[in-house]
Amino acid sequence: MRILIVGTGYVGTTTGLVFCEMGHKVTGLDLDENKIKALQAGKLHFYEPGLEELLSKHVAAQHIEFTKKTKKAVKENDIIFICVGTPQGADGSADLTYVKNVAHSIGKYMNKYKIIITKSTVPVGTAELVTKWIKEGQEEQIPYDVVSNPEFLREGSALRDALNPDRIVIGSTSETARTIIREMYRDFHCPIVETNPNASEMIKYAANSFLAMKISFINELARLCDGLNININDVSKGIGLDTRIGPQFLRAGMGYGGSCFPKDVNALIQIAKENGQPLSILEHVVKVNEEQTVFFIEKIKQNLGDDLLNKKIAVLGLSFKANTDDTRESPTLNLINQLLAEQAQVMVHDPVVKIAGGPSLVQLQSVEETVVGADALVIGTDWDEYKNLDWVRIKQLMNQPNLFDGRNMLDKRKIENLGFYYSGIANH
Ligand code: UDX
Ligand code: UDX
Repeated sequence: MRILIVGTGYVGTTTGLVFCEMGHKVTGLDLDENKIKALQAGKLHFYEPGLEELLSKHVAAQHIEFTKKTKKAVKENDIIFICVGTPQGADGSADLTYVKNVAHSIGKYMNKYKIIITKSTVPVGTAELVTKWIKEGQEEQIPYDVVSNPEFLREGSALRDALNPDRIVIGSTSETARTIIREMYRDFHCPIVETNPNASEMIKYAANSFLAMKISFINELARLCDGLNININDVSKGIGLDTRIGPQFLRAGMGYGGSCFPKDVNALIQIAKENGQPLSILEHVVKVNEEQTVFFIEKIKQNLGDDLLNKKIAVLGLSFKANTDDTRESPTLNLINQLLAEQAQVMVHDPVVKIAGGPSLVQLQSVEETVVGADALVIGTDWDEYKNLDWVRIKQLMNQPNLFDGRNMLDKRKIENLGFYYSGIANH
């Protein structure tokens, strides 16, 4: 099949390459010329393990091409995925401006029957809006179907997730469209949930909100366990082995971030309010998440004292989680901003993210340079390479051996035996 992907970000690029793997011919369309040029040269404009190898393979084999030319791309492809961003608007709801623009262009350049599929996370009712927007763009009446087919991939393991989904959700009332989409996914061996577009859109929000809720649950419980000297990791393991609960998304830490959970939970809260049926449970999920960095900073202050003025704090990791260069809504950046607001001196390190520093914020090339003279070392992101550092050397380089583990990734006993003061999130 010939497939057009509109929006070549994390979601669009991964989706396109996975369809190439399944034997389809793909075109990636994006407004951003720099991204298109990079992709045409087989270079990814973001960091995602394993994806660049796949990109260069399929570019070389001409299974995928990239373009800025909307008219030609729409005319030549009959299956069109919308993968543009749906950022958070001022009131917490999703901003659909990009989706609307794309729908208008599809309508304008449509030359025969097409299936338009929303992959971007969009509010309930968006498929109906996209249907209307395409019609508005049309110069002559040509039939088409709009389908909701949400993506569940995680950054950092995008390829693995997209190649091995737990399920595929197809939201459509058109049997023609559903048959074609089932055929497109014929080589995926997982359950397919067929429903209407509104339910499909709700499934995506509900899945992300439920996972965010698991994280906030374990984080709030961790605050209680911290004071009671109970190891939260043991609690997560003990409850996670109950198959009704499941082991995943029960890692306590500094809270969830990224381009999806924060924005999607807020968008669902907004949808619930607009429909007179508030989801107060999710309002608490957000509140707990916001409080988590405050709780962590309090732990730092219990050791360093309330006044952080000119205290040197080294922070390892900047991305919202390991294996990505994405810093959108990163809890670590949030923590750094709070430390800077309290006039601490912050030195940072990240294996892939580069940030512009400032008078009190310096990025260094190596972990060793980052910790020189530090009064405290904070693990902000759980990159694997921070697990087995030369702690003896690090201790020598620091001013005071204080270690705060925002991701519970280190072995407390081992670190304490080396003479560090260690504090995690109920990591006893
Ligand atoms: C985004 C959203 O964050 C996510 O919720 C949604 O499910 C899918 O879209 P992501 O792929 O991470 O996910 O977004 P981003 O990396 O911002 O990529 C979007 C791409 O669309 C960008 O490359 C942008 O240049 C492009 N774009 C945007 C267009 O091609 N046309 C537009 O009109 C707007
Ligand atoms: C998420 C969803 O998992 C994916 O299905 C969806 O479609 C896109 O949004 P992503 O944001 O890439 O994926 O990463 P994810 O692995 O879900 O992590 C989100 C945040 O939660 C990160 O900040 C992560 O560090 C945090 N997290 C995750 C925890 O704090 N504890 C956990 O146990 C799991």
